[in-house]
Amino acid sequence: MLVTTTKMLKDAVAGQYAVGHFNINNLEWTKAVLLTAQENNSPVILGVSEGAAKYMGGFDTVVGMVNGMLKGLKITVPVALHLDHGSYEGAQAAMEAGFSSVMFDGSHYAIDENIKKTQEIIAIANSKGISVEAEVGSIGGEEDGVVGAGEIADPSECKLIADLGVDLLAAGIGNIHGAYPENWAGLDFGALAEIKAKTGDMPLVLHGGTGIPVEMITEAISLGVAKINVNTECQWTFAAATREYFEAKKDLVGKGFDPRKILGPGFEAIKATVKEKMEIFGSINKA
Ligand code: 13P
Repeated sequence: MLVTTTKMLKDAVAGQYAVGHFNINNLEWTKAVLLTAQENNSPVILGVSEGAAKYMGGFDTVVGMVNGMLKGLKITVPVALHLDHGSYEGAQAAMEAGFSSVMFDGSHYAIDENIKKTQEIIAIANSKGISVEAEVGSIGGEEDGVVGAGEIADPSECKLIADLGVDLLAAGIGNIHGAYPENWAGLDFGALAEIKAKTGDMPLVLHGGTGIPVEMITEAISLGVAKINVNTECQWTFAAATREYFEAKKDLVGKGFDPRKILGPGFEAIKATVKEKMEIFGSINKA
């Protein structure tokens, strides 16, 4: 059964580790993440962007697929199904469909509007027992067509949003979706420490988990980061493995075109990437 992120992230804050949020884009990714979590006795969060949900056939399809896999694959570790960067309407639709957790990304609204809309989403989520992630200070880079400038969150605004009753808070601290540029200044740990001081035990979320050096991940976890989002790195390893498969098969006309075989190496690649991240985040054997 799906669970919210509340208990798993409370445990992570107390135990000083982070739970991986891995974006899913199709059946193979979903199965790879779930099996890796089970094999490593790790809690896990399946992140679904609105674009990915649309691609997979809508929120109901995603909920049906994930619930089916929990049963069919006998997954017993805690799993949350979480809407990633949800719009106001998208968050409501995902909750209606059966997601156990939603992010309402109101970071592009003025703070007053962000607060008002976040409050409305929290009221609905509370009535259904769903956890809510809010965002302050946009995450840099591009994700699913949404481009953020990568601003550093204002700690006082973080406190304002945290006090509305959100369960987890994403705060921009110089993190970027996708590849980090050569001249990236790194995470702003001063800002993170201030945010932590103002928000107490609130689990903090680090978006843009691809390509952040391990030492920075460790420091971020020590300052209250309890959920780390990874998407691009799985795309890279999945694409590389698939490309290699076709390269190896290119002379075999008419052979090796069974989709289950084509996507097999990519599936294994995602499993390896997810396991590596779980090791870095420290969530193995924390289920
Ligand atoms: P990356 O694509 O950089 O791994 O970030 C993922 C993310 O933050 C999803 O919300």
